[in-house]
Amino acid sequence: MKLSNKVIILTGASQGIGRAAAYKFVEAGSKVVLVARSADLLNEVVADLGERNAVAIPADIRQRDTSNLIVTTALDRFGHVDILVNNAGVGVYDMCEDVTAQDLQAVIETNLLGPIYLTQACIPAMRASGGGLVINVSSIAGKRGVPNMAPYSASKAALERLTESWRMELGPDNIRFSLLVLGTAQTNFKQNALGSRQQKPSPMKRMPPEQVAEFMVRIAEREPRDTYVRLLDRVFVFVSTRFPGLLDRVLGGYYIKSS
Ligand SMILES: NC(=O)c1ccc[n+]([C@@H]2O[C@H](COP(=O)([O-])OP(=O)(O)OC[C@H]3O[C@@H](n4cnc5c(N)ncnc54)[C@H](OP(=O)(O)O)[C@@H]3O)[C@@H](O)[C@H]2O)c1
Repeated sequence: MKLSNKVIILTGASQGIGRAAAYKFVEAGSKVVLVARSADLLNEVVADLGERNAVAIPADIRQRDTSNLIVTTALDRFGHVDILVNNAGVGVYDMCEDVTAQDLQAVIETNLLGPIYLTQACIPAMRASGGGLVINVSSIAGKRGVPNMAPYSASKAALERLTESWRMELGPDNIRFSLLVLGTAQTNFKQNALGSRQQKPSPMKRMPPEQVAEFMVRIAEREPRDTYVRLLDRVFVFVSTRFPGLLDRVLGGYYIKSS
């Protein structure tokens, strides 16, 4: 869709990819509704982008009630909601027997339940304006289990299956879904992750968040179905489905035996 004057709810906008995307969407002519828990960081972005173009909503997407507040604020401020980007996410690095109930709950609530609540809350507003687009941010770890990251991988895999189902359910209302599948980016994702283990750095080159954000803007414009940010990520997933035993040995050797 053309992004000029479109209203975009963007979660995880205080840092990393979401923060970079806020600037790129406004450059493309959109208005952005910025969601994250860190009010100070969100306010910095609004100060840069201007109150005509951006509003900050400090909120925890794990709380179901906040999703209605986010949509109501977007409507009060800008009058409509055209795009929801479910970008906020958290990792957890731990082995099967060590991951705590609290971390499990946090990763599932943030990566899966938050996007569900927000999508549900956006449906009436999108229907009322004739449709809309939901972009869900996934990971190659959602396509293929990675050692020390099982709950994170599971949360992203579940988000992908939801995306497929909702695409069929909401297509008749012209509510469309795109999935952005990412490999690795140069953000504080690892530092912000939960769990007791330090994950080894990914052997794949990390992309600057601005580059991922540019890709996100292109997705909003072109609305592909299910898209990888890089060819390398697509190749990784292809190899992992064709040669799963080989990938088990490579990933297990890299992330477990040598750690
Ligand atoms: N970086 C990578 O290598 C990589 C790879 C594949 C996929 N991804 C995915 O890309 C997305 C963005 O990741 P990133 O690298 O930008 O991570 P990041 O730098 O750690 O940023 C995460 C963002 O999510 C927000 N957030 C976390 N929990 C939240 C909650 N409960 N409520 C509201 N906001 C919350 C954080 O803000 P507050 O802390 O202020 O709430 C922050 O703005 C995530 O979905 C991640 O899974 C990242």
